[in-house]
Amino acid sequence: MVLKETLRLYPSAVVVNRTATRDVKLGELDIPAGMQLEFPIIDVHRDIDVWGTDADEFNPSRFADNRRYRLGAYFPFSLGPSICVGKNLAMVEAMVELAMIL
Ligand code: HEM
Repeated sequence: MVLKETLRLYPSAVVVNRTATRDVKLGELDIPAGMQLEFPIIDVHRDIDVWGTDADEFNPSRFADNRRYRLGAYFPFSLGPSICVGKNLAMVEAMVELAMIL
């Protein structure tokens, strides 16, 4: 929970970019091929509509009980086919480091 909350407030990658390879409809949005899309991880991670009015506060218990947030609202390792391949290694390493510090 502490690591998840740390990556929510201080994501190592603050933004991910994608380029549409074909025309695509996303909900009400028409995205033409070639359009550059920018996903501001750090802003989404602090959106009060998702996280509540304490969005800027460090509160690991928001991840208690494996609570899930809206799909796409939490993506420190990105999402989809290009999700970080080191995600699990990074989390295990961080857990070991935290345990050593404690
Ligand atoms: C807290 C630690 C880490 C964070 C927050 C992180 C975050 C990310 C993010 C956001 C991406 C997607 C970038 C994009 O799509 O534009 C990514 C991709 C990637 N990460 Fe990590 N990463 C971490 C640790 C690691 C580690 C430890 C490794 C390797 C041992 C690693 C290897 C990779 C690779 C190879 C990709 C490219 C995957 C692809 O494009 O298919 N990352 N990472």
